[in-house]
Amino acid sequence: MTLRSVIRGTGHYLPERVVENSWFEERLDTSDEWIRTRTGIERRHFAAEGQATSDMGLRAARAALDKAGLKPDDIDGIVLATSTPDFTFPASATMIQHGLGMTHGFAYDVQAVCAGFVFALANADAMIRGGMARRVLVIGSETFSRIMDWSDRGTCVLFGDGAGAVVLEGQNGDGTAGDRGILASDLNSDGQYRDLLYVDGGVGTTGTAGQLRMQGNLVFRHAVEKLAKTAHVALDKAGLTPAQVDWLVPHQANARIITATAQKMGLPMDKVVLTVADHGNTSAASIPLALSVADSQGRFREGDVIVTEAIGGGLSWGSVVLRW
Ligand code: ACO
Repeated sequence: MTLRSVIRGTGHYLPERVVENSWFEERLDTSDEWIRTRTGIERRHFAAEGQATSDMGLRAARAALDKAGLKPDDIDGIVLATSTPDFTFPASATMIQHGLGMTHGFAYDVQAVCAGFVFALANADAMIRGGMARRVLVIGSETFSRIMDWSDRGTCVLFGDGAGAVVLEGQNGDGTAGDRGILASDLNSDGQYRDLLYVDGGVGTTGTAGQLRMQGNLVFRHAVEKLAKTAHVALDKAGLTPAQVDWLVPHQANARIITATAQKMGLPMDKVVLTVADHGNTSAASIPLALSVADSQGRFREGDVIVTEAIGGGLSWGSVVLRW
């Protein structure tokens, strides 16, 4: 008997305000055509004034609990992936915990930028398999609109706000690749690449939140190479091959990166969940958002093999292989 972390429910929340590419055409030297062809992005959501990461995370968490048919009392802990917390401290996860009316269990944030959800999922899986928790809410929630340089056309057109959540539950498997739940993970970081993608402020340096800076074309090259590799490593660990993958649910940064990664894995695009057109890059929220959208459309069948993979600031990158 082997303990596996199975996704019991998914949920998401997107802020009401939708911003089309044309909004940027009015403000910057850019075009809807450039943004669509270079990134696949058509629109994104931006949080309302006063709407914070924990507000969106709470809504996604409630939706995931509803889908799972569970109550906050049934949850042992919350892991929130975010790089845009409400405050420097406490962890925004504790605000979600309070919003759910929970006074039990643990709640903390994980920070691995766009790879945050993959790191949080692997982290929660390890806790479940280690016997520290039976059910964990794993959330990704971001308000990247708050750290944009609105004069930098190379970054501000790319990002959006939103949240997604999953309920992970420990269930018994037989220890084979046929089990439901998380089968393998692969996590990596390499701090030598800090300057490719970072925020130019912080509590320990400028005392400000700062703004996002990115050398997009260099990150692009790392992304294509590292994402396909990490997916292969995790699949190998799980004892599976790319031919056995039913769905790739990648971080939604750029449709060209996603297509190139799918090609390297030998996967046709009808096996890839693509939400980047409607959400933009929502950093740590993008994978749980994509999982929840595809789940609500009834696209996953029990037993499907799903690969998630992401890369972000650090650089940090990784993947999780699971059976639905
Ligand atoms: N509109 C019009 N032109 C633009 C825009 C824009 N919005 N942005 C950049 N350009 C111009 C550039 O100025 C450049 O012009 P030049 O040739 O005259 O100098 C030209 O377009 C090409 O620029 P590149 O940066 O080389 O364009 P590229 O094809 O690489 O696309 C992009 C840029 C979309 C940013 C791409 O590199 C990318 O997606 N990179 C990876 C992003 C990513 O995955 N990040 C990781 C996750 S994010 C996180 O962790 C927070």
